[in-house]
Amino acid sequence: MEVDLLLHSASQLLTLSGGPQRGSELGQLGIIEDGAVAIAGERVQAIGSSDELRETFEPDVMINAFGRVVMPGFVDPHTHLIWAGDRADEFEARASGATYMEILSQGGGILSTVRHTRAAEPSELIAQARLRLNRMLNHGTTTAEAKTGYGLALEPELRILDAILTLDERGPIELSPTFLPAHAVPAEYEADEYVGLICDEMLPALVVWWGDRRSDTPLPFVDVFCEEGAFDLAQCQRVLGVAKELGFPLKIHADEFASLGGTKLAIELGAISADHLVHTTANEIQMLGDSGTAAIALPATPFGLAESEYTPALKILQAGGLLALASDLNPGTAWCESMQFVIALATRYMGLTPAQAIAACTVNAAAAIGREDVVGSLELGKQADLLILEVEDYRHLGYRFGTNLVQTVVKKGRIVVDRSRDGFR
Ligand code: NIG
Ligand code: FE
Repeated sequence: MEVDLLLHSASQLLTLSGGPQRGSELGQLGIIEDGAVAIAGERVQAIGSSDELRETFEPDVMINAFGRVVMPGFVDPHTHLIWAGDRADEFEARASGATYMEILSQGGGILSTVRHTRAAEPSELIAQARLRLNRMLNHGTTTAEAKTGYGLALEPELRILDAILTLDERGPIELSPTFLPAHAVPAEYEADEYVGLICDEMLPALVVWWGDRRSDTPLPFVDVFCEEGAFDLAQCQRVLGVAKELGFPLKIHADEFASLGGTKLAIELGAISADHLVHTTANEIQMLGDSGTAAIALPATPFGLAESEYTPALKILQAGGLLALASDLNPGTAWCESMQFVIALATRYMGLTPAQAIAACTVNAAAAIGREDVVGSLELGKQADLLILEVEDYRHLGYRFGTNLVQTVVKKGRIVVDRSRDGFR
């Protein structure tokens, strides 16, 4: 049988097959030693031993992955991909003792990025995000969620959403869009007033806009930043309640700095994920275990802020929760484009094994954005999104950090990154 691509002789082929991995099940990599994948068009045609697949298939292109790990592309389920400018000045101030929340309350932080983002042309927003996407792809991310949240008014929020959709359409990284107008209170409003505007005008307008721009795909997620200094529980309840009535799937930023009850709210509303969860109560952790809401941990954020507390991953797993990992890529707390680095942090500060961390940023991360039927594992009929790592043993992910272990990236069956000759130039 003819196929387009046959990748064979992988020392370890990590399939991550069998669906999302809850609680103590986390870490099933589904390893095939001396493994092979046959790809036809954008999809996985077959997966198995190299001997078997070499006999069955006549490929146009063969890749020998001898001595290398092959695995699904990373899914990054929480990013603030689109912004203009940077906050190097704040990073320097924080290094001298200022805190993130102090800076935000003085009109800096998210609001500083909002000023730059509002002033940027769409082409500029796209150009700046493109550079980040290229770095993400080079580090093995093949699918990502991307949020608005640096516009904080209808027109600039839609401009950011449009940039996300444009970048998704151009590829190769697929983007899952999220509308986050409740990211900070813009300077021109009181919090309740702005929440009223989101509920009465922005969300209904988004439904109409989406119908014109992307009627063929489901509505984007709606997310809120439930936090002291951002939006309180009642305000988040209002925004997410209206969003739910309008048919939007939901996400939340909860318990990053303080515990306000956002995780419980997310579970009650049936949100697809609750994210951050550093200061989540024991009761809410228990609730997560019994719910369909995924817990997304973002270890690059406490690391980026030099904080000592991380998401209590093992407690979430003990409760039976669905744990995913993400970068939180943003200009304030975590300018991190590498899921490999996220794994390095999760294996040190969250107590995960390399296998658990890998499952949390592939198959479980796909579930945390509702894409588990298409990406996050290498299985028959799924999208052929995969990585060849320049190491023989998957445990080098996490063990090693600060260098890029990705050699080749295949997205929808096409080789989009090939660093195999980098050393020889
Ligand atoms: O997830 N928490 C809110 N949003 C980001 C930070 C955004 C920023 O500082 O620009 C986060 O940490
Ligand atoms: Fe975030």
